[in-house]
Amino acid sequence: MIRVLFNIKGGVGKSSLSVNLAAISASQGKKTLLIDLDTQCNSSQYLGLTDESAQNTIADLFEQTITFHLVKKPASDFCQRTSYDNLDVIQGSTRLAKLENELDGRHKIYKLRDALKTLQNDYDRIYIDTPPALNFYSLSALIGADACLIPIDCDDFARKGLYSLKQKIDEIIEDHNDELVIEGIIANQYMANAKLPNQIVNELIDEGYPVLPTYINQSVKMRESHQAKRPLVDIAPKHKLTQALIELHNSLK
Ligand SMILES: Nc1ncnc2c1ncn2[C@@H]1O[C@H](COP(=O)(O)OP(=O)(O)OP(=O)(O)O)[C@@H](O)[C@H]1O
Ligand SMILES: [Mg+2]
Repeated sequence: MIRVLFNIKGGVGKSSLSVNLAAISASQGKKTLLIDLDTQCNSSQYLGLTDESAQNTIADLFEQTITFHLVKKPASDFCQRTSYDNLDVIQGSTRLAKLENELDGRHKIYKLRDALKTLQNDYDRIYIDTPPALNFYSLSALIGADACLIPIDCDDFARKGLYSLKQKIDEIIEDHNDELVIEGIIANQYMANAKLPNQIVNELIDEGYPVLPTYINQSVKMRESHQAKRPLVDIAPKHKLTQALIELHNSLK
């Protein structure tokens, strides 16, 4: 199962959720891969991968599609072990930004899908973190994925953005990947005691959006976990936020 965490809106929790869902999946014994497709490299940093000069990053994987190599490396060569059992990562890279125009101009939009097809044999779950834009990389991910999870931060801008986001994803389903499903909208940074987030989520449900039933509260524990560079299931397995993330994870297929 290949899942992409996607929203054009920034700061909604794509990186936080992709790392934590991947770490939970791995902690349950599933062979799991996280792919960091964002030039910001937040999900790589979250897992302690901060070396900008690292080899075999996602940029290297894409770069070999536009460079003449006698032997191209298999996608599995770009998967690094992490310090967690069952959790591997394809590290992000700031070089993605420079590569984007050339990859786009040379029509490499299906190359990630090809790589994912081979990786699917090695992993039970693949999570892909994307940048806050519908660009070459997020489109590549949506073309190669089975399912899309859309985090929202429960504010009015997020709700307004969803209308056009859904249209764009539906267009990608129609034109490029008819196996892609919108698996659900994740209400993140939810504040159970505030009126507005509750109202926004209820309106989305009334409008027929597939809001997943487990809401993820706003909690300083998430930021502490980033700072410690340790996913929540590792640093605070009993915390309420972690328990909600596990419930969310277990509610997915
Ligand atoms: N449930 C939460 N509780 C508290 N803070 C959160 C929660 N989820 C995310 N955050 C915080 O919100 C900020 C944005 O989160 P994150 O980087 O995961 O979003 P993103 O969608 O990946 O952002 P970008 O669009 O820049 O890639 C971070 O500072 C993160 O710590
Ligand atoms: Mg991010």
